Amino acid sequence: MRKQHVALAAAALVGLTAISANVTMPSRLACAAEAVISYAEDVAPIFRGRCVSCHAPGGQGYEASGLDLTSYAGLMKGTRYGPMIVPGDPEVSNLMRLLDWRASAELRMPHGKKKLSVCDRDAIRAWIRQGAKDN
Ligand code: HEC
Repeated sequence: MRKQHVALAAAALVGLTAISANVTMPSRLACAAEAVISYAEDVAPIFRGRCVSCHAPGGQGYEASGLDLTSYAGLMKGTRYGPMIVPGDPEVSNLMRLLDWRASAELRMPHGKKKLSVCDRDAIRAWIRQGAKDN
């Protein structure tokens, strides 16, 4: 009886390890450079979580720059001074300069908040490299 309990506990542990391995797998895959990045499924959720509170009409980021991050059209239109994204070229895209904190402190985005994770920035970078499509 005792032995059986130990065996059950061991089986439960193996099960848990298998579950946690499954849980960590997708986020690792999302960081893979070769994955096809989707605007709707990968990029827009980052903006919704970290940018839209300021970059929607009425928000301080929108009012200061004209950049509306609630839609693909708004993102591609850019600020009132012009586009922030050069499709195919993340290195010259101003959006990546601001997100990588390569710009002056007051233009680092998200403004006054924590920097986006490497994973999130690399996903946006890969999406721009893949042509910044409405996919
Ligand atoms: C707390 C509010 C806030 C958040 C959150 C925020 N921004 Fe901003 N954003 C601003 C403000 C304010 C400006 C205007 C800065 C200026 O011109 O001095 C701005 C300007 C910008 C600009 C234009 C900069 C320029 O050269 O004119 C871009 C691009 C931008 N934000 C992108 C983002 C992105 C992408 C996110 C999310 C990762 C984000 N912002 C999150 C407040 C915010």
